[in-house]
Amino acid sequence: PTATRDLLLSRIRDVVDHPSPGIVFKDITPLLADPEAFTALTGTFAELCVRFGATKIVGLEARGFILAAPVAVSAGVGFIPVRKAGKLPGATLRQAYELEYGTAEIEVHAEDLAAGDRVLVIDDVLATGGTAEASLELVRRAGAEVVGVAVLMELGFLGGRARLESALKGAPLEAVIRL
Ligand code: PRP
Ligand code: MG
Repeated sequence: PTATRDLLLSRIRDVVDHPSPGIVFKDITPLLADPEAFTALTGTFAELCVRFGATKIVGLEARGFILAAPVAVSAGVGFIPVRKAGKLPGATLRQAYELEYGTAEIEVHAEDLAAGDRVLVIDDVLATGGTAEASLELVRRAGAEVVGVAVLMELGFLGGRARLESALKGAPLEAVIRL
């Protein structure tokens, strides 16, 4: 509801020129430090988990971990980390994606997802959509089904929703706040 959205928005701090000139960084640490706000966000995501019938939560390193892990505990489903390449010790699937300058790679443990799993992907921000798009590729390559993507904030002017559309294959993209 609107009250939750407004509370959450009030706990996100704009940091001008971080990490580089011209960028306005969306800092969620005030939200994390406020138990009412953090609980409201976790509850909103947990409701989506139930509505979509998700059986696994995938969180995207690093800020997505913070939001996704309490949702998994609250909803009573498993938490699966998608990490930046080189961090996971076991056999992984790896996916490259385009950044504004250059490319990046993320990974998931291959054994953590399988056919029959219904996955909700959680992250803090959808910007260009590159990170989320790559994560959906990983989930599908592991044989699992994507039942939704949930983010705290969608930066609409960066076009992430359009970039994600084909990778979503009809699954919903839910943003608590759209800017
Ligand atoms: C940020 C943010 C999202 C991603 C969104 O993560 O937390 O994961 O960028 O950008 P995109 O839609 O253009 O891919 P970042 O990789 O900066 O690092 P962090 O989460 O590890 O802090
Ligand atoms: Mg991130």
